[in-house]
Amino acid sequence: MSSTAPHTPHPAPLTGTCTLPGDKSISHRAVLFSLLRPGTYHLSNIATNADVAASAAAITQLGARIEQPHPDEWIITSPVQPSAPTHPIDCHNSGTTMRLLCGLLAGLQQPATLIGDASLSARPMGRVIKPLHGFGATITGTGTTPNPVTAPIRISPAPLSGQTHQLAVASAQVKSALLLAATFAHGPTTLTEPTPTRDHTERLFQHMGIPLSSSTQATGHTHHTVPGDYTRPPLPQSPQWAIPGDISSAAFLTVAALITPGSRLTLRNVLLNPSRTGVLTALAQWGVKCPQSNQHTLQGEPVGDLTITHQPLQGHCTLQGDIIANLIDEIPILAMAGLFSTGGLTVRGAEELRHKESDRISVLAQALQHLGYTITEHPDGFTLPGNQSWQGTLPNHPLITAGDHRIAMALRVLNHAVCPNTPWPLDDPHCVTVSFPDFDTVLTQLTHP
Ligand code: S3P
Repeated sequence: MSSTAPHTPHPAPLTGTCTLPGDKSISHRAVLFSLLRPGTYHLSNIATNADVAASAAAITQLGARIEQPHPDEWIITSPVQPSAPTHPIDCHNSGTTMRLLCGLLAGLQQPATLIGDASLSARPMGRVIKPLHGFGATITGTGTTPNPVTAPIRISPAPLSGQTHQLAVASAQVKSALLLAATFAHGPTTLTEPTPTRDHTERLFQHMGIPLSSSTQATGHTHHTVPGDYTRPPLPQSPQWAIPGDISSAAFLTVAALITPGSRLTLRNVLLNPSRTGVLTALAQWGVKCPQSNQHTLQGEPVGDLTITHQPLQGHCTLQGDIIANLIDEIPILAMAGLFSTGGLTVRGAEELRHKESDRISVLAQALQHLGYTITEHPDGFTLPGNQSWQGTLPNHPLITAGDHRIAMALRVLNHAVCPNTPWPLDDPHCVTVSFPDFDTVLTQLTHP
């Protein structure tokens, strides 16, 4: 039997300013792409989470050296010649590490085995392995049709040749893996991307002087052309890269401030790359305004400050089509915003959510239903009505996060907004370390200035 909270005090507003840890996607690329050009890289505000740590450990197995004068300041020395790893590379929970390494290691012709935790070992890897075969890569996963191909993945050295390929899944991880392989392949590659996805690989390639040209047609298709035959020229000088604040982590604090009366929060140095700001576009459908200031660029990435004040979320928000890839990681927290909106939220065309760190559609629906909220699952999304006030149904067993960091943080935000004095038990609260280890501390600091 569920019990009911006896008294629900008002939640403390989020006030003050906060600089977010470095963006996870860009941190992964800054670390992994150091193997594309020998030299010494100085990285500041690098994400210090478990996912990026997996990429860091992987490059050290390939011969790079990492010094950490401060937890979020790294000096990476990339070797003139990468070495073959002597043990399997453990990608832990990180899909980005595993998929990008598939392309990078195939390109470098380094033999390796890639393994991951239970969640990563259940995620589909055929989407990257199959198109790598088109370059002539020798790469195999585990499992056979009709089951998805999964980790462990084995890569053996083989010469690659350029190809013409159209991406079958809207995935920046797959796109990036293929661009990495194409860079080293013999001869040119043209990769067509029917649906736009985050373009950090393209921006960092340009910043590092790695040949790639991209053009978007009137049809919305983007063609990426890579000349191939890349030879890893050393860096002319040591770059200093400051990683922009993670907009996906910012989304949790943004929604927390929007739904908590009295909040006024400034998030500094947030990544504002248009291929990642779908969360702000979604909030704008509810009439939300988050003014931006102090716009500048870091390594070709747009960055700025966001000011968020508590405000009503008016009307219904529908998310479908091309915007889904842009805000795929923000859907769990947008669901929490939807409960507070006047008209609710519909998400369709987002079946990819079922292949993330958990099946995010079903895990989200189960957790909200457990708390007494209404949400209807669809095969490719969900619908939830707005204006849902919490009826005080305390969870009678820990809420299931399925070890998914974004589900855990979304539930923490809801918990703070509706039941601030009684922390709801989560089955795996530790999983937030995957992307935002200090999330609880930051939320506490902003609510107790
Ligand atoms: C990422 C791409 C997205 C995203 C993931 C990070 C990246 O995954 O969900 O958190 O850094 O390229 P997909 O490429 O599978 O959509």
